[in-house]
Amino acid sequence: MELRGRAASITDSPTLAITAKAKAMQAAGEDVVSLSAGEPDFDTPDFIKQATIDALQSGETKYSPASGLPVLKNAIVRKLKRDNGLSYDTKQIAISSGAKHTLYNLFQVLLGEGDEVIVPAPYWVSYPEQIGCAGGKTVVVNTSEADGFVLRPDALREKLTDRTRFLVLNSPSNPTGGVYEKSDLEAVAEVCLENNIGVISDEIYEHLIYGGRTHHSIAEVSPEMKELTLVVNGHSKAYSMTGWRLGYVAGNADVVAAVGRLQSQSTSNPVTFVQYGGVAALDKDQQCVLEMRAEFDKRRMYIVDRLNSLPGVTCATPLGAFYVFPNVGSHYGKTLGGAKVKDSFDFCDALLKQQKVAIVPGEPFGADPHVRLSYATSMAVIEKGLDRIASFLASAE
Ligand SMILES: Cc1ncc(COP(=O)(O)O)c(C=O)c1O
Repeated sequence: MELRGRAASITDSPTLAITAKAKAMQAAGEDVVSLSAGEPDFDTPDFIKQATIDALQSGETKYSPASGLPVLKNAIVRKLKRDNGLSYDTKQIAISSGAKHTLYNLFQVLLGEGDEVIVPAPYWVSYPEQIGCAGGKTVVVNTSEADGFVLRPDALREKLTDRTRFLVLNSPSNPTGGVYEKSDLEAVAEVCLENNIGVISDEIYEHLIYGGRTHHSIAEVSPEMKELTLVVNGHSKAYSMTGWRLGYVAGNADVVAAVGRLQSQSTSNPVTFVQYGGVAALDKDQQCVLEMRAEFDKRRMYIVDRLNSLPGVTCATPLGAFYVFPNVGSHYGKTLGGAKVKDSFDFCDALLKQQKVAIVPGEPFGADPHVRLSYATSMAVIEKGLDRIASFLASAE
């Protein structure tokens, strides 16, 4: 059957594809080390599971309102006040089946054909695909490693046209681990306010931020900037709830209502009993988040040191999330593990074939000299993976 329209150009998420390939090799009995998955290796905390089990057992198994249960919207309102100092009412909150779904819905309701969305590179792989699915046009603006991969106002200004509608911000960032300080956000906000550019602020890694830093949302900059911002967040990364599928947006009530309408005609509500687990996660003691973060932090320091000790590899220390994004470009043009390597796809392919280590090429993140490794896996797996990468690079000819 022929695929037509937008479906014809959608590609598979490369991160999910590589993780699936590694899992298939493992299932076939191969000793694969996977440093590709974007999900915490911890189990979901018991109190969250228990709240969900209680909801299931008390019959919370029917449809909920399409944009989510009032009880979860209220918990999100409390969270945004407590953690971010931002006040919203429940009409400004829509809950979806994961932050990825929230973002998809937002682009669908916000973009007209040819509307431009500025996306700082390196970027999360799904933004350009989702923008394209909504008929929008991604305009990439490069950031530099020297700037901590933070967007500078002049670079943003250069990309503005009369079709620019939105800017996507992602702090802490997947894949770079870059984090925006409040002053960085103020500088970007000035350009957005001058030009009436809305911001879709993806804050899914908010709680995974290291070295005593504090997360800031661009919506905190001023009441005017809050009006222009749609804050996107979810439960996956902070509470190790990737498979539960809960995400949400906070912002303009008309946009939120449109997301609700779209959902009512497409997926309906996020799973009803799962939403009760979501309430417990946000309302109860946040100690579990701190414990997971402390563990990620140890791994972060280890993996950065090891990578920087490898020949021809440089790796900036990420300040947030659970990824490192080393530059391996000096190896392109060489033969590694017997294979000619010309770009990040070749590099990752050869590494998987020769050493059975799964990592993700930088090209789909808009940064081909780089590759992405996740440290959301045990220290033992990280050590083994790094040992194999060292052998792989030692084979360079
Ligand atoms: C930057 C970023 N945003 C959003 C998401 C989506 O998270 P979820 O749909 O699991 O809530 C991810 C997941 O990898 C991500 O890395």
